[in-house]
Amino acid sequence: ATSTAPRHFLSIGDLTPKELSTLVRQATKAKHAIKAGTVPESLKGTLTGKTIAMMFSKRSTRTRVSTEAAVVYMGGHPMFLGKDDIQLGVNESLYDTSVVISSMTSCIVARVGPHSDIAELAKHSSVPVINALSDLYHPLQAVTDIMTISEAFPSGIAGLKVAWVGDANNVLYDLMIACAKMGINVSIATPANYPVDPGMLATTEAAAKLSGSKIEVTTDPIVAVRDANVIVTDTWVSMGQESEKKIRLAQFEGYQVSTKMAAKAHKDWKFMHCLPRKPEEVTNEVFYSDRSLVFTEAENRLYAAIAALEAFVVKKGKFEEDE
Ligand code: CP
Ligand code: NVA
Repeated sequence: ATSTAPRHFLSIGDLTPKELSTLVRQATKAKHAIKAGTVPESLKGTLTGKTIAMMFSKRSTRTRVSTEAAVVYMGGHPMFLGKDDIQLGVNESLYDTSVVISSMTSCIVARVGPHSDIAELAKHSSVPVINALSDLYHPLQAVTDIMTISEAFPSGIAGLKVAWVGDANNVLYDLMIACAKMGINVSIATPANYPVDPGMLATTEAAAKLSGSKIEVTTDPIVAVRDANVIVTDTWVSMGQESEKKIRLAQFEGYQVSTKMAAKAHKDWKFMHCLPRKPEEVTNEVFYSDRSLVFTEAENRLYAAIAALEAFVVKKGKFEEDE
């Protein structure tokens, strides 16, 4: 273990606006190179001989595949440790697990239930910990989403309006903080019984104050989507909330994103969703339309994973001034 504590990536709140822009720019650069059939020279072999531990206590398609593929592009070895593979939670504490795994690997990418679990892992890890989803945050998704918005609006993202309709959850929290840092206006409609966490709102408003963006919270989806350039949603039943499914589906009635709901959105509005998607939160008409960026967004997870590994593992968290 080194004497200086590693820099972790647990939330978008850990980044300055400039660092977030750098991650998005590096991800986009990696995309262009990989699409052209090359790996950028600056990335080639940067993880050779290094193992990236992936501790996932929940299912994953995109985060798992993108992280494993990203590590391979960079020459390293991704080691997937599912909840039935290691002692964690069953037979061993977070402390012991973190000390042991970090003594043998170069990074821990972890998907957990309570955010306190990943905070605890990070506290005792001698290598960077990257959050692959907790109940509060999903930073790799938010980097991807800013990248996807930037691609869809090449003339600039500051001043755009992003509307979120649905649950106040982990994906929303890092996305709203990211938008606020980038000068994107955000309007959020959630049912009255599922309000945005006041602490998350305060963090977002503080970032918005610096960038000049506006944050609005409402229970009315029609208000949220008015003039929106991008409408975003996510499942109404996150992993771990399966027992609440019936009550949630009832409480979120009227929040399904549809062409009708979006009648007063900007005429060129786009749709985004982190996936996996359930049918109730968005109509097929919208989800599979030309407005929908969902599959580009999913693919962009790969490039965001590359940028995050480059920033936090290769550059050890010192990446602000990169070109
Ligand atoms: N968007 C996302 O994180 O998907 P997975 O749960 O499949 O990783
Ligand atoms: N909010 C969802 C996101 C999955 C990527 C969940 O936590 O299950």
